[in-house]
Amino acid sequence: MAGGEKVDYVFKVVLIGDSAVGKSQILARFARNEFSIDSKATIGVEFQTRTLVIDHKSVKAQIWDTAGQERYRAVTSAYYRGALGALLVYDITKRQSFDHIPRWLEELRGHADKNIVIMLVGNKNDLEGERAVSTEDAKEFTEKENLFFLETSALQATNVENAFQTVLTEIF
Ligand code: GTP
Ligand code: MG
Repeated sequence: MAGGEKVDYVFKVVLIGDSAVGKSQILARFARNEFSIDSKATIGVEFQTRTLVIDHKSVKAQIWDTAGQERYRAVTSAYYRGALGALLVYDITKRQSFDHIPRWLEELRGHADKNIVIMLVGNKNDLEGERAVSTEDAKEFTEKENLFFLETSALQATNVENAFQTVLTEIF
């Protein structure tokens, strides 16, 4: 938006999930339309913003990204404070990253607002040949837990926009 940057709403959304599932690259794709193959592990907390229009209102999405690696993580309660949405990310080629989702969900539900909008994201779906988590398994889990679900590729820019749009629209 050029000139008078009037922002009607600021929505905080957090990214969580195991290390190397692609959280930082999902954020880079959404905020700057960039992707890096040699992305470094995140240390501490970072955030980026992007302003978009939803229902004729200007919504500033403030997306927080933290380390999946325990030793690099920042204090969790501060991270979740004020968050209205969450992207819970696993890697479709790494079964373990999906098996850890219930733990991430537990942490999220323990620290975040109880009305937080949660989207499960199966990233790296450009690597179909290495798939280790079926779409059906993930769908079944999200139906049981009442979450939104999408498979994405930060590399190919598939569904990244859609994932954030869905969460932001739902918050709105
Ligand atoms: P931590 O910061 O340690 O928690 O990891 P992260 O979840 O932020 O992972 P990051 O975004 O740094 O990505 C890890 C690796 O996966 C990098 O080599 C990325 O280039 C790669 N990657 C991320 N998204 C995709 C994707 O959609 N497809 C493919 N093929 N690779 C991806
Ligand atoms: Mg990262």
